[in-house]
Amino acid sequence: MIQFKDVSVTYEGDEGKVEAVQKLSLHIHKGEIFGIVGASGAGKSTLLRTINLLERPTEGRIYINNQDITDLKGEELRLLRQKIGMIFQHFNLIQRKTVFDNIAFPMVAAGTSKEEIKKRVTKLLHLVGLSDKSNAFPAQLSGGQKQRVGIARALANETEILLCDEPTSALDLETTKSILNLLKEINQKLGITIVIITHEMDVVKSICDRVAVMNEGYLLEAGDVYDVFVNPKDAFTKQLIEHTFHLEFPPQIFNDFKGRVLKIVYKGKAATEPLLSEVSKRYNIKLNIVHGKIEYIGDRPVGILVVELEGDEGEVQLAVDYINERTALTEEVLYAN
Ligand SMILES: Nc1ncnc2c1ncn2[C@@H]1O[C@H](COP(=O)(O)OP(=O)(O)O)[C@@H](O)[C@H]1O
Ligand SMILES: [Mg+2]
Repeated sequence: MIQFKDVSVTYEGDEGKVEAVQKLSLHIHKGEIFGIVGASGAGKSTLLRTINLLERPTEGRIYINNQDITDLKGEELRLLRQKIGMIFQHFNLIQRKTVFDNIAFPMVAAGTSKEEIKKRVTKLLHLVGLSDKSNAFPAQLSGGQKQRVGIARALANETEILLCDEPTSALDLETTKSILNLLKEINQKLGITIVIITHEMDVVKSICDRVAVMNEGYLLEAGDVYDVFVNPKDAFTKQLIEHTFHLEFPPQIFNDFKGRVLKIVYKGKAATEPLLSEVSKRYNIKLNIVHGKIEYIGDRPVGILVVELEGDEGEVQLAVDYINERTALTEEVLYAN
């Protein structure tokens, strides 16, 4: 649905050129929730803003529903933007306007009739759970409620795509969850394609179908969230994921290990217990479980185990190979990260 072809965005800054996005190609499918992650300054916001041409690519083309939008101007650009809603980290509501008027704003701009506006705002207020806040002003709302207004406003016209730039970064954990649930509901109920930028892998883990990882303007990898989490290709991605799996160990612990330490990632809930007991039976080694847990990527479980294998070098190697062949990912843990 949204296709980037060799897109670059270069800014002319005071200190020379900034290459915010570099030769990036990517395809976001209709109806999915697509995450874009990366550190601050990676180019995420710039990339997102090219979708509604708030930034224009310096090079490359962008297609939406197979239409090349890169050079759209005037009325055509206005119509494109109507179909694309956007929400922000700091909500960007109009402080002087009521909740009702904030949500109505894009419809007024599009020339929608008063009657129709009333009907749609009422529906949207219901959708985001703010029916009783119609006459409130932004200052009277909590952060979560403000973001709900932002979401309602972004859906005011016949929205097909919702762009979210760090929508939960200013919210606490509980509120984040409720906003993510609302986005998921909107995606499922209304079939709206959602592109969400975040620096939190937990956000990706809980609602995204696919994800792209960016660093210094480049796309490092993109794919199914489950696959990227279970088997990240790039070192940078690995680091991001380790962090969300909370697999950092205190460095002292590594002094106590006598054998080889492996991190094993496996798909699904099953399989490791039988696998490890099989390894103990087959090979003459001592096997200590250092750490083990199950994480959920969306609703699919992924298991993570850290084990120490002690014994004869050759025998341990055979055991490592055996485990390696039967799990999604097996890695030596050499030092504390
Ligand atoms: N309007 C601008 N003018 C000049 N440089 C910019 C502008 N917007 C962003 N940048 C620079 O482009 C790079 C990418 O920024 P951005 O897309 O905001 O990254 P992210 O959203 O991943 O933090 C950064 O180095 C940033 O300083
Ligand atoms: Mg940003």
